[in-house]
Amino acid sequence: MNITLRENIEWVGYVDWTVRDFHGYDTARGATYNAYLVRDEKTALIDAVKAPFADQLIKNVAALTGLDKVDYIVCNHAEPDHAGALPAAMAAMPNATLVCDKKCIDALGEHFDVSGWKVEIVKTGDTISLGKRSLSFIETPMVHWPESMFTYIPEEKILFSMDAFGQHYASSQRFDDEVNINDVLYEAKAYYANIVMPYGKRVTKTLEVAAGIDIEMIAPSHGVIWRSHVADIVKCYSEWAVCKPAPKVLVIYDSMWDATGQMARAIHAGASVAGVQAELIFIRTSNITKIATEVMDAACVAFGSSTLNATLLPQAGAALLYLHGLRPVDKTAFAFGSYGWGMGGPSSVNEWLEKMKWEIIREPIRTKYNPDEETLEICFQAGRELAQKALEITGNG
Ligand code: FEO
Repeated sequence: MNITLRENIEWVGYVDWTVRDFHGYDTARGATYNAYLVRDEKTALIDAVKAPFADQLIKNVAALTGLDKVDYIVCNHAEPDHAGALPAAMAAMPNATLVCDKKCIDALGEHFDVSGWKVEIVKTGDTISLGKRSLSFIETPMVHWPESMFTYIPEEKILFSMDAFGQHYASSQRFDDEVNINDVLYEAKAYYANIVMPYGKRVTKTLEVAAGIDIEMIAPSHGVIWRSHVADIVKCYSEWAVCKPAPKVLVIYDSMWDATGQMARAIHAGASVAGVQAELIFIRTSNITKIATEVMDAACVAFGSSTLNATLLPQAGAALLYLHGLRPVDKTAFAFGSYGWGMGGPSSVNEWLEKMKWEIIREPIRTKYNPDEETLEICFQAGRELAQKALEITGNG
């Protein structure tokens, strides 16, 4: 494995090939927890890994230098997938000073006993010289936690961006030009949608700061390192930060006896017009990770649920609850679904769409038990209307 970013700057993290769940996120392609070692007159470890992999991190560092030669351990982000191994690393590297911002040490103190640690608090603009190279720091609150920050090596034009620009993507290669770039960009999009999307305004601010920095390489704390597609991933982030809509219509549904399924297929047929990417998503055969990823850049969404116990189906509820928390903005939508003796399903969906402040273009389409031809025609026309909206919103109408 090529682990060298530049002479004496090496990746020392862990590739978690088999993980499939990251606090509910479906990590279908595994994950990595990236850490980097910078050797100069002084030596710095940038970030750590998840606690169970602390031994491997320490072994990776020891293969490159004496553990007593590590002068600094930089913590860019206190979430346990990176900071979990810090207690073991601080114990194994007795001369290391932990470097982080004020909020980070406060957060670390809530997780670990930090009383015996040497700590240097930094803020935006501070610099630590390592010899020929230096570390400078940029606080990036809420990308992804309040204490998050970037570390930048100006002499090498490398930005260590912790979660930002990351992907849950296990590979035996470490660089973007060594893997299938379309897979990596999809996983970066999934990562953004499921982890970073609620903080879009902060991301835009962070990108403004990053625009003032000369960057040749972005080394995130998950996935591959960007060296050939830096401009591409930065452009993607600028679009994802505002949920820039594509001419895309999603028909997302759950169904009990396929009445809502019939409606969904009719809506999807209506939305399938030239220039529009119409996708049909049955929640039971998909998952919330994929749904959030697809919703982020969809212009329009039709969301359906049958009625169960006077409300929507539980997996439809879980998907809407999850989307509500992630706050995808500027969607045009409507609800649909079936009912029997109580009418709660489509009405509950509609309430969730309202809560998300999406533009609702019509009353929910409802059917008692199975849809008749007239209802299916209404669904088809509603899908057509949604497709037209998607084209107009994206300047293609
Ligand atoms: Fe990869 Fe926010 O932790």
